[in-house]
Amino acid sequence: MKAYFTRAYTLSASHRLHTEALSAEDNRTTFGKCNNPHGHGHNYRIEVTVGGPVDPATGMVINMATLDQVVNDVVIRRFDHMNLNLDPLFTHRVSTTENLSITVFDLLASALAPAILEKIRIEETENNFFEYSGSH
Ligand code: NI
Repeated sequence: MKAYFTRAYTLSASHRLHTEALSAEDNRTTFGKCNNPHGHGHNYRIEVTVGGPVDPATGMVINMATLDQVVNDVVIRRFDHMNLNLDPLFTHRVSTTENLSITVFDLLASALAPAILEKIRIEETENNFFEYSGSH
């Protein structure tokens, strides 16, 4: 028996899409205006989905206060109002929202154990959504 709980969080951060693996010109071609040297910002909406059996004593998959605390400690405090590119996790990883999804998933998966992190879904803009469910 398995149930799922999803909770949404807001994260405001800046970034610049750029990789040392490409020339300046190829960076501009690949990333367009997102390669602007001054960067730009997003108000990301991060949805965290946790799955598992419903605890018969509490009736919950995970206590919401516990989830909030872990997400705040591990993700929000680290990235909110920061430049993603300056975080060591993005030194060798382009700060796309695909990679932000993977990064958030990997940071949270171990911190939430024994609860099972099923999925991270990030809305970057009104029209762009990204999901990552782990490497399994
Ligand atoms: Ni962007």
